[in-house]
Amino acid sequence: MSGHLRLGVNIDHVATVRNARGSGYPDPVRAALIAAEAGADGITAHLREDRRHITDDDIARLADQLTVPLNLEMAATDEMLGIALRHGPHAACIVPERREERTTEGGLDAAGQHNHLAPMVRALKGANIRVSLFIEPDARQIEAAMRLGVPVVELHTGRYCELEGEARSVELRRIADAAALAAKNGIEVHAGHGLTFDNVAPIAAIPQLQELNIGHFLIGEAIFDGLAPVVRRMRALMDDAR
Ligand code: PXP
Repeated sequence: MSGHLRLGVNIDHVATVRNARGSGYPDPVRAALIAAEAGADGITAHLREDRRHITDDDIARLADQLTVPLNLEMAATDEMLGIALRHGPHAACIVPERREERTTEGGLDAAGQHNHLAPMVRALKGANIRVSLFIEPDARQIEAAMRLGVPVVELHTGRYCELEGEARSVELRRIADAAALAAKNGIEVHAGHGLTFDNVAPIAAIPQLQELNIGHFLIGEAIFDGLAPVVRRMRALMDDAR
């Protein structure tokens, strides 16, 4: 497949810095507009149940002001479904969410949660929102995604990013195999979590991948180099890997 690999920039942690002081700055919407201008193909934001970073108002302003697609990351709850249906983002990525976790620590159990997810997937699809499931690179989860009829899956790259040496190569192969299986069955494949300048190239080289969602590293690097140059560099590394 190969071709252009989209970059979705996740701006959650601009809001983390803002919320650390309860001030109005830095504004994640301003960051989103700068990222888009610098070459991000889309913007991703996770409205967590505890609102620890992105707020309802941020989502409303993103939906209103963005000219690139908005990908709303959401837990599979009725509250989040209502918010997604109200704002009609381009895409909604269903993620597992536990209040005590620091970040999304594992993939969604699409296989075990079929009955809970099915009506949610139906409602989002009915509203013309492109639904994706954030899952581990595992054949069982992909088969479950197929049974749910989702058009997109996002493969969790967190484990790949944490491992080193041979163990990382094994995990990379798992991701590549999962991407091939999903694509073969007509599912669009995205990936993300923990990606940096140093580890992105082997992931970006997987030909079936169509989008990477990257946040924490980019926002951190932006402190040193500014958001636009950092987004441009990530874009260039992704393009070089194709
Ligand atoms: N994709 C999904 C589904 C996520 O939940 C996250 C983290 O919010 C990311 C991508 C981005 O991960 P990171 O911030 O580590 O780049």
